[in-house]
Amino acid sequence: MADLFSMKNRVVLLTGASRGLGRDMALCLAEAGATVLCAGRVVKDLEATAKAIARKKGKAHVVPLDITDDVAASATVAALIRKHRRIDVLVNNAGVIHRENIVDTATQDFRKVIETDLIGQFVLSREVGRHMLARQYGRIVNISSVLAVLGRASVAGYVSAKHGLTGLTKNLATEFGPYVTANAIAPGYIRTELNVPLQKNKDFNALLEQRTAAQRWGKPDDLRGALLLLASDAGAYITGHTLVIDGGMSTILA
Ligand SMILES: NC(=O)c1ccc[n+]([C@@H]2O[C@H](COP(=O)([O-])OP(=O)(O)OC[C@H]3O[C@@H](n4cnc5c(N)ncnc54)[C@H](OP(=O)(O)O)[C@@H]3O)[C@@H](O)[C@H]2O)c1
Repeated sequence: MADLFSMKNRVVLLTGASRGLGRDMALCLAEAGATVLCAGRVVKDLEATAKAIARKKGKAHVVPLDITDDVAASATVAALIRKHRRIDVLVNNAGVIHRENIVDTATQDFRKVIETDLIGQFVLSREVGRHMLARQYGRIVNISSVLAVLGRASVAGYVSAKHGLTGLTKNLATEFGPYVTANAIAPGYIRTELNVPLQKNKDFNALLEQRTAAQRWGKPDDLRGALLLLASDAGAYITGHTLVIDGGMSTILA
């Protein structure tokens, strides 16, 4: 049964591998047998992830990449395919958030979130997708958010990008079938650098405990099962889907 979820001999391009959810995903995929191409902007942090993987006898490479630079994204994907011969799995995990009410948000701040959390995913899916289509194999996993399902004050760019990612995921599935699947994981609240202000906010902590059946924050490894499902052969007939993993937050009103 473990073979169904195995990542042995798979080459995975994972963005935002330097910290938070991406770092845990990198470790998980490597433990399952994948060679993980760890992409992000800060090389030193990517090297720390790659070293942690190497310490556990896994395989990882550092890939310096700003996903908002589409010329660099295209050149990087081409170089990775030349070097590693293939990319079997793309995990679009990198993301940013901007916290400010709509009336105070500058256009450039809104645009930066859309560029990082939606356009970057489009560009990488297009570049890696061409190669996957030619090879007749591929798995694309977009890391979305419970804010692809719910709205929330002060994060309009993020909510817009993540709702957009649901649509992009459906269209990738539509255009890339039958051999390439595209799905999204929509996590609830998981302690990382992205949400430090919320971790310190008493009212938010009370709301989170009340609104989740699990009555707690998520942990990065709560996503491991879903990630392996959607990245491996186990997910062959799942495509276009956004899988919400939020401890029940989006099902509970109060
Ligand atoms: N934590 C949560 O509760 C939560 C909930 C729902 C969804 N998510 C989603 O999960 C993903 C990861 O979030 P996280 O909580 O792990 O955040 P995080 O700790 O802030 O990590 C974000 C990662 O994205 C990378 N990144 C940001 N901008 C980039 C760019 N332009 N090019 C390349 N890499 C970039 C960062 O690396 P560098 O800065 O070094 O480039 C970092 O590795 C995001 O898509 C986020 O929306 C998180």
